Amino acid sequence: MKVTVVGAGAVGASCAEYIAIKNFASEVVLLDIKEGYAEGKAMDLMQTASLNGFDTKITGVTNDYSKTAGSDICVITSGIPRKPGMTREELIGINAGIVKDVSSNLVKHSPKTIIIVVSNPMDTMAYLVHKTSGLPKNRIIGMGGALDSARFKYRLAEALGAPISDVDGMVIGGHSDTGMVPLTRLATRNSVPVSKFISEERLGQVMEDTKVGGATLTKLLGTSAWYAPGAAVSALVQAIACDQKKMFPCSVMLDGEYGMKDICIGAPVILGRNGIEKIVELELNDAEKNHMKESAEGVRKTNDLLAV
Ligand code: LAC
Repeated sequence: MKVTVVGAGAVGASCAEYIAIKNFASEVVLLDIKEGYAEGKAMDLMQTASLNGFDTKITGVTNDYSKTAGSDICVITSGIPRKPGMTREELIGINAGIVKDVSSNLVKHSPKTIIIVVSNPMDTMAYLVHKTSGLPKNRIIGMGGALDSARFKYRLAEALGAPISDVDGMVIGGHSDTGMVPLTRLATRNSVPVSKFISEERLGQVMEDTKVGGATLTKLLGTSAWYAPGAAVSALVQAIACDQKKMFPCSVMLDGEYGMKDICIGAPVILGRNGIEKIVELELNDAEKNHMKESAEGVRKTNDLLAV
Protein backbone atom coordinates (compact mmCIF):
# COMPACT_ATOMS: atom_id res chain seq x y z
CA MET A 1 0.00 0.00 0.00
CA LYS A 2 1.59 3.21 -1.19
CA VAL A 3 0.24 6.53 0.02
CA THR A 4 1.30 9.97 -1.23
CA VAL A 5 0.75 13.06 0.86
CA VAL A 6 1.15 16.33 -1.03
CA GLY A 7 2.12 19.23 1.20
CA ALA A 8 4.65 18.63 3.97
CA GLY A 9 3.28 21.41 6.14
CA ALA A 10 1.81 20.77 9.56
CA VAL A 11 -1.30 18.90 8.32
CA GLY A 12 0.59 16.81 5.73
CA ALA A 13 3.38 15.86 8.13
CA SER A 14 1.00 14.99 10.94
CA CYS A 15 -1.05 12.91 8.51
CA ALA A 16 2.12 11.04 7.40
CA GLU A 17 3.07 10.52 11.04
CA TYR A 18 -0.30 9.05 12.05
CA ILE A 19 -0.38 6.79 8.99
CA ALA A 20 3.12 5.52 9.81
CA ILE A 21 2.40 5.00 13.52
CA LYS A 22 -0.60 2.82 12.66
CA ASN A 23 1.80 0.68 10.60
CA PHE A 24 -0.62 -0.46 7.86
CA ALA A 25 1.04 1.16 4.81
CA SER A 26 4.30 -0.01 3.28
CA GLU A 27 5.26 3.41 1.96
CA VAL A 28 4.35 7.06 2.42
CA VAL A 29 5.73 9.63 -0.04
CA LEU A 30 5.67 13.18 1.24
CA LEU A 31 5.89 15.80 -1.53
CA ASP A 32 6.34 19.54 -1.20
CA ILE A 33 7.39 22.38 -3.50
CA LYS A 34 9.75 23.90 -0.95
CA GLU A 35 13.27 22.60 -1.68
CA GLY A 36 14.37 19.94 0.80
CA TYR A 37 11.40 20.48 3.13
CA ALA A 38 9.60 17.17 2.55
CA GLU A 39 12.96 15.36 2.63
CA GLY A 40 13.64 16.92 6.04
CA LYS A 41 10.23 16.08 7.47
CA ALA A 42 10.47 12.51 6.13
CA MET A 43 13.93 12.01 7.62
CA ASP A 44 12.82 13.40 10.99
CA LEU A 45 9.76 11.13 10.97
CA MET A 46 11.83 8.08 9.95
CA GLN A 47 14.07 8.70 12.94
CA THR A 48 10.99 8.12 15.14
CA ALA A 49 10.40 4.68 13.57
CA SER A 50 12.50 2.66 16.03
CA LEU A 51 11.01 4.63 18.93
CA ASN A 52 7.39 4.45 17.82
CA GLY A 53 7.64 0.93 16.41
CA PHE A 54 6.64 1.26 12.77
CA ASP A 55 8.03 -0.13 9.52
CA THR A 56 6.27 2.21 7.09
CA LYS A 57 8.92 3.79 4.88
CA ILE A 58 8.49 7.56 4.60
CA THR A 59 10.34 9.34 1.80
CA GLY A 60 10.35 13.04 1.01
CA VAL A 61 10.57 14.59 -2.47
CA THR A 62 10.71 18.13 -3.81
CA ASN A 63 8.01 18.45 -6.46
CA ASP A 64 9.03 15.20 -8.24
CA TYR A 65 5.74 13.48 -9.04
CA SER A 66 7.49 10.52 -10.71
CA LYS A 67 8.30 9.34 -7.17
CA THR A 68 4.58 9.20 -6.38
CA ALA A 69 3.88 6.76 -9.24
CA GLY A 70 1.61 3.82 -8.42
CA SER A 71 0.12 5.38 -5.28
CA ASP A 72 -3.05 3.65 -4.10
CA ILE A 73 -4.18 6.72 -2.15
CA CYS A 74 -3.11 10.37 -2.55
CA VAL A 75 -3.87 13.08 -0.02
CA ILE A 76 -3.87 16.73 -1.08
CA THR A 77 -3.12 19.12 1.77
CA SER A 78 -1.34 21.76 -0.31
CA GLY A 79 -2.36 25.38 -0.48
CA ILE A 80 -2.37 28.22 1.99
CA PRO A 81 -3.97 27.75 5.41
CA ARG A 82 -6.32 30.17 7.18
CA LYS A 83 -5.00 33.05 9.24
CA PRO A 84 -7.02 34.28 12.23
CA GLY A 85 -10.21 36.03 11.11
CA MET A 86 -10.21 34.43 7.64
CA THR A 87 -12.91 32.07 6.42
CA ARG A 88 -12.01 28.89 4.53
CA GLU A 89 -13.82 30.38 1.50
CA GLU A 90 -11.35 33.27 1.26
CA LEU A 91 -8.59 30.84 0.27
CA ILE A 92 -10.21 29.86 -2.99
CA GLY A 93 -8.28 32.12 -5.39
CA ILE A 94 -4.86 30.67 -4.58
CA ASN A 95 -5.85 27.16 -3.58
CA ALA A 96 -7.96 26.35 -6.65
CA GLY A 97 -4.97 26.71 -8.98
CA ILE A 98 -2.74 24.66 -6.68
CA VAL A 99 -5.26 21.83 -6.16
CA LYS A 100 -6.02 21.58 -9.89
CA ASP A 101 -2.33 21.31 -10.72
CA VAL A 102 -1.53 18.87 -7.95
CA SER A 103 -4.42 16.53 -8.77
CA SER A 104 -3.57 16.44 -12.46
CA ASN A 105 0.08 15.58 -11.65
CA LEU A 106 -1.02 12.87 -9.23
CA VAL A 107 -3.44 11.24 -11.66
CA LYS A 108 -0.81 11.32 -14.43
CA HIS A 109 1.46 9.08 -12.33
CA SER A 110 -1.19 7.10 -10.45
CA PRO A 111 -4.25 6.73 -12.70
CA LYS A 112 -5.86 4.21 -10.33
CA THR A 113 -5.47 6.33 -7.22
CA ILE A 114 -8.08 7.41 -4.71
CA ILE A 115 -7.74 11.10 -3.84
CA ILE A 116 -8.51 12.59 -0.44
CA VAL A 117 -8.89 16.38 -0.56
CA VAL A 118 -8.01 18.37 2.56
CA SER A 119 -7.19 21.82 1.10
CA ASN A 120 -9.76 24.54 1.78
CA PRO A 121 -12.42 25.51 0.92
CA MET A 122 -12.58 21.73 1.03
CA ASP A 123 -16.02 20.97 -0.47
CA THR A 124 -15.28 23.25 -3.41
CA MET A 125 -11.77 21.83 -3.83
CA ALA A 126 -13.25 18.30 -3.91
CA TYR A 127 -15.76 19.53 -6.52
CA LEU A 128 -12.89 20.99 -8.56
CA VAL A 129 -11.04 17.65 -8.50
CA HIS A 130 -14.24 15.95 -9.71
CA LYS A 131 -14.53 18.40 -12.59
CA THR A 132 -10.89 18.32 -13.66
CA SER A 133 -9.22 15.02 -12.76
CA GLY A 134 -11.31 12.55 -14.77
CA LEU A 135 -11.40 10.11 -11.82
CA PRO A 136 -14.65 8.25 -11.11
CA LYS A 137 -16.70 9.71 -8.29
CA ASN A 138 -16.09 6.91 -5.80
CA ARG A 139 -12.39 7.78 -5.91
CA ILE A 140 -12.60 11.43 -4.79
CA ILE A 141 -13.22 12.05 -1.10
CA GLY A 142 -13.26 15.35 0.76
CA MET A 143 -12.02 15.26 4.34
CA GLY A 144 -14.11 17.48 6.56
CA GLY A 145 -16.90 15.56 8.22
CA ALA A 146 -14.54 13.11 9.90
CA LEU A 147 -12.68 16.02 11.48
CA ASP A 148 -15.82 17.99 12.34
CA SER A 149 -17.36 14.88 13.92
CA ALA A 150 -14.25 14.36 16.06
CA ARG A 151 -14.58 17.98 17.22
CA PHE A 152 -18.29 17.42 17.85
CA LYS A 153 -17.52 14.39 20.02
CA TYR A 154 -14.95 16.41 21.94
CA ARG A 155 -17.52 19.12 22.66
CA LEU A 156 -20.23 16.57 23.51
CA ALA A 157 -17.96 14.78 25.99
CA GLU A 158 -17.08 18.13 27.55
CA ALA A 159 -20.74 19.08 27.96
CA LEU A 160 -21.73 15.65 29.28
CA GLY A 161 -18.74 15.35 31.60
CA ALA A 162 -18.22 11.97 29.94
CA PRO A 163 -15.19 10.25 28.43
CA ILE A 164 -15.03 10.67 24.65
CA SER A 165 -15.28 6.89 24.18
CA ASP A 166 -18.81 7.11 25.65
CA VAL A 167 -20.11 9.48 22.97
CA ASP A 168 -21.02 9.12 19.34
CA GLY A 169 -22.14 11.74 16.88
CA MET A 170 -21.79 12.95 13.35
CA VAL A 171 -21.50 16.25 11.48
CA ILE A 172 -22.77 16.41 7.92
CA GLY A 173 -23.08 19.36 5.49
CA GLY A 174 -20.37 21.73 4.32
CA HIS A 175 -16.99 22.06 6.02
CA SER A 176 -17.46 25.73 6.90
CA ASP A 177 -18.33 27.77 9.97
CA THR A 178 -21.90 28.25 8.76
CA GLY A 179 -22.29 25.08 6.69
CA MET A 180 -21.74 22.35 9.28
CA VAL A 181 -24.77 20.39 10.38
CA PRO A 182 -23.98 18.68 13.71
CA LEU A 183 -26.67 16.03 14.16
CA THR A 184 -27.42 16.64 17.84
CA ARG A 185 -30.70 14.70 17.61
CA LEU A 186 -28.84 11.51 16.67
CA ALA A 187 -25.87 11.95 19.04
CA THR A 188 -25.73 9.40 21.83
CA ARG A 189 -23.99 8.45 25.04
CA ASN A 190 -23.76 4.65 24.91
CA SER A 191 -26.81 4.58 22.61
CA VAL A 192 -28.90 6.89 24.84
CA PRO A 193 -29.78 10.21 23.11
CA VAL A 194 -27.61 12.97 24.61
CA SER A 195 -30.73 15.13 25.12
CA LYS A 196 -31.47 12.81 28.07
CA PHE A 197 -28.43 14.22 29.87
CA ILE A 198 -28.07 17.86 28.83
CA SER A 199 -30.44 20.73 28.18
CA GLU A 200 -31.50 21.88 24.74
CA GLU A 201 -29.62 25.10 25.43
CA ARG A 202 -26.35 23.34 26.31
CA LEU A 203 -26.74 21.18 23.21
CA GLY A 204 -27.17 24.36 21.15
CA GLN A 205 -23.88 25.58 22.60
CA VAL A 206 -22.17 22.30 21.65
CA MET A 207 -23.46 22.80 18.12
CA GLU A 208 -22.13 26.36 17.90
CA ASP A 209 -18.73 25.42 19.40
CA THR A 210 -18.45 22.56 16.91
CA LYS A 211 -19.20 24.76 13.91
CA VAL A 212 -16.44 27.22 14.80
CA GLY A 213 -14.07 24.42 15.86
CA GLY A 214 -11.48 25.25 13.18
CA ALA A 215 -11.78 29.04 13.63
CA THR A 216 -11.32 28.72 17.41
CA LEU A 217 -8.04 26.89 16.87
CA THR A 218 -6.89 29.27 14.14
CA LYS A 219 -7.34 32.12 16.60
CA LEU A 220 -5.37 30.31 19.30
CA LEU A 221 -2.60 29.01 17.05
CA GLY A 222 -2.26 31.83 14.53
CA THR A 223 -2.74 29.29 11.72
CA SER A 224 -5.06 26.37 11.13
CA ALA A 225 -4.93 23.21 13.21
CA TRP A 226 -3.03 20.05 12.27
CA TYR A 227 -3.25 17.23 14.83
CA ALA A 228 -6.97 16.49 14.46
CA PRO A 229 -6.96 17.13 10.67
CA GLY A 230 -3.95 14.76 10.33
CA ALA A 231 -5.61 12.11 12.50
CA ALA A 232 -8.89 12.41 10.58
CA VAL A 233 -7.13 11.92 7.24
CA SER A 234 -5.17 8.96 8.55
CA ALA A 235 -8.43 7.33 9.73
CA LEU A 236 -9.90 7.69 6.22
CA VAL A 237 -6.69 6.35 4.63
CA GLN A 238 -6.73 3.36 6.99
CA ALA A 239 -10.41 2.61 6.30
CA ILE A 240 -9.62 2.46 2.57
CA ALA A 241 -6.27 0.69 2.82
CA CYS A 242 -7.58 -1.97 5.19
CA ASP A 243 -10.96 -2.27 3.43
CA GLN A 244 -12.69 -1.60 6.74
CA LYS A 245 -16.12 -0.59 5.36
CA LYS A 246 -16.22 2.05 8.08
CA MET A 247 -18.77 4.85 8.01
CA PHE A 248 -17.53 8.43 8.04
CA PRO A 249 -19.17 11.65 6.95
CA CYS A 250 -17.11 12.85 3.96
CA SER A 251 -17.56 15.37 1.19
CA VAL A 252 -18.97 13.37 -1.72
CA MET A 253 -20.39 14.16 -5.13
CA LEU A 254 -24.13 13.72 -4.74
CA ASP A 255 -26.33 12.50 -7.56
CA GLY A 256 -29.82 12.74 -6.14
CA GLU A 257 -28.99 11.69 -2.58
CA TYR A 258 -30.35 14.17 -0.03
CA GLY A 259 -32.24 15.72 -2.95
CA MET A 260 -29.07 17.27 -4.38
CA LYS A 261 -27.04 16.90 -7.54
CA ASP A 262 -23.72 18.20 -8.84
CA ILE A 263 -22.37 19.24 -5.46
CA CYS A 264 -19.73 17.87 -3.08
CA ILE A 265 -20.96 18.13 0.48
CA GLY A 266 -20.64 16.15 3.69
CA ALA A 267 -22.77 13.02 3.95
CA PRO A 268 -22.16 9.65 5.61
CA VAL A 269 -20.37 7.15 3.38
CA ILE A 270 -18.98 3.64 3.69
CA LEU A 271 -15.25 3.61 2.98
CA GLY A 272 -13.46 0.54 1.72
CA ARG A 273 -10.86 -0.54 -0.81
CA ASN A 274 -12.90 1.04 -3.65
CA GLY A 275 -13.06 4.40 -1.91
CA ILE A 276 -16.65 5.50 -1.44
CA GLU A 277 -18.56 2.21 -1.56
CA LYS A 278 -21.94 3.62 -0.58
CA ILE A 279 -23.58 6.90 0.35
CA VAL A 280 -25.81 6.44 3.40
CA GLU A 281 -29.06 8.41 3.28
CA LEU A 282 -30.31 9.40 6.72
CA GLU A 283 -33.91 10.29 7.51
CA LEU A 284 -33.50 13.94 8.44
CA ASN A 285 -36.19 15.96 10.17
CA ASP A 286 -37.41 19.24 8.69
CA ALA A 287 -35.00 21.42 10.66
CA GLU A 288 -32.03 19.26 9.63
CA LYS A 289 -33.21 19.23 6.00
CA ASN A 290 -33.43 23.03 6.02
CA HIS A 291 -30.02 23.31 7.63
CA MET A 292 -28.60 21.00 4.95
CA LYS A 293 -30.28 23.06 2.22
CA GLU A 294 -28.78 26.31 3.53
CA SER A 295 -25.40 24.60 3.81
CA ALA A 296 -25.61 23.49 0.17
CA GLU A 297 -26.48 27.04 -0.92
CA GLY A 298 -23.27 28.25 0.75
CA VAL A 299 -21.18 25.55 -0.93
CA ARG A 300 -22.71 26.32 -4.33
CA LYS A 301 -21.92 30.00 -3.90
CA THR A 302 -18.26 29.12 -3.37
CA ASN A 303 -18.34 26.63 -6.28
CA ASP A 304 -19.59 29.46 -8.49
CA LEU A 305 -16.29 31.26 -7.91
CA LEU A 306 -14.51 28.46 -9.78
CA ALA A 307 -14.22 28.89 -13.49
CA VAL A 308 -14.82 25.24 -14.39
C1 LAC B 1 -9.74 22.80 10.01
C2 LAC B 1 -9.19 22.89 8.63
C3 LAC B 1 -8.33 21.72 8.29
O1 LAC B 1 -10.97 22.73 10.15
O2 LAC B 1 -10.19 23.06 7.69
O3 LAC B 1 -8.95 22.78 10.98
